[in-house]
Amino acid sequence: MKVSVIGTGYVGLVSGAVFAELGHDALCVDNDERKVKMLEQGHMPIYEPGLEELVAKNRAAKRLRFATTIQEAMEHGDVVFICVGTPPLPSGAPDLSYVDAVSRDIAKHLTKYRVIVEKSTVPVQTGEKVKLTISKYAKAGSEFDVVSNPEFLREGSAVADAFNPDRIVIGAETQRAKDMMLNLYDKFRDKCVVVDIKSSELIKHASNSFLALKISFINAVANICELSGADVTQVARGMGLDQRIGPQFLYAGLGYGGSCFPKDVDAFVDISAKLGYDFHLLREVQRINHVQLEKFLKKIEQELWMLRDKKIAVWGLAFKPNTDDVRESPAIKICAALRDAGAKVRAFDPKGQENAKSVLAGIEFSPDMWHALEGADLLAICTEWDEFRKADFARIKKLMAHPTIVDGRNIWDPVEMKKMGFAYRSVGR
Ligand code: UDX
Repeated sequence: MKVSVIGTGYVGLVSGAVFAELGHDALCVDNDERKVKMLEQGHMPIYEPGLEELVAKNRAAKRLRFATTIQEAMEHGDVVFICVGTPPLPSGAPDLSYVDAVSRDIAKHLTKYRVIVEKSTVPVQTGEKVKLTISKYAKAGSEFDVVSNPEFLREGSAVADAFNPDRIVIGAETQRAKDMMLNLYDKFRDKCVVVDIKSSELIKHASNSFLALKISFINAVANICELSGADVTQVARGMGLDQRIGPQFLYAGLGYGGSCFPKDVDAFVDISAKLGYDFHLLREVQRINHVQLEKFLKKIEQELWMLRDKKIAVWGLAFKPNTDDVRESPAIKICAALRDAGAKVRAFDPKGQENAKSVLAGIEFSPDMWHALEGADLLAICTEWDEFRKADFARIKKLMAHPTIVDGRNIWDPVEMKKMGFAYRSVGR
């Protein structure tokens, strides 16, 4: 099938490459000409394992191309995906002005039947607005359908996730649109769940908010563990063996970050309030997530007393491992708070360093994880990269002025750490 994707951000680029790999003829469109040029030269604007290879392979097979105008997208694709950004406004509501602008542009170039798919994460009832906007700005009698098809890819494993989906949610109204979407996802037909548009939109917000809730829940339990002397990793293991609960997303730590959970929970709270429901439960999820960071900083303070002029090594800047994304990363907030308290911060991240540099001033970025440790009074672990887990403890001890570690990701065993002579604190243990 011929597919167009508007917006080559994270979701759009991965989706375009995946559609091509599934055998479709994909055209990815972005109005950022520099980005399109970069993609045409085979360079990736983001780090995502396997993406560069996937793009290269499908460009060579001529199943994946790039362009800069919505007109080209509309001429090419029988199915046209809207994958533009929906950044958060100060109120917590997502800014839907790009979705609106693209919808009007789509209307202008609508000359034959097209299925217009909202893939960007949007609040419930956005599909209705997209439909209304296209109808209003298109020539009378233009034929189209609006479909909702939310994305559930995780950064760092997006390509692998795309070829092994738990489910593909399709929100559609007409049989024609449903059939076209099912053909598009023919290889995963048994994974397709067809629902109405509003329910599809809600599935996305409800799913991400539920996962965020699970994280805040285990972080709250971690606090009870610290107060009572229990071990949150043992509690989580025992809970997760119940198939109704499941073991995933029960890792206590610094709270959730990234470009999705914080924004989606905010947006869900916002749309719920607008519809007349106070989603107090989710507001508590947000609060627990915020407090989790403060508790981590307090542990550092308890170890160092005054932070001014103390040398603190920070391992990890990305919001999670295997990505260079630092958006809403707990690590960035921790570095900023330590810097503001007068500490001398040296940070290192295997992939997120360059992105961190653009949002974080007043700290030193180390060329490697060892450099950050030289003469440090404390090591704060903020992202659970594998190379940190496998670090040589003798070397850590030798480089640091004082072998004190505050681990926000529970990467090491507290008993072993104590045996090796480290002052070691983690989360909920
Ligand atoms: C998430 C959803 O998983 C995905 O389905 C959706 O499409 C986009 O948002 P992503 O933001 O890439 O994906 O990361 P994810 O792996 O879900 O982690 C989100 C945050 O939660 C990270 O900051 C991570 O460190 C944190 N987390 C996750 C925990 O603190 N504990 C856990 O047990 C799991």
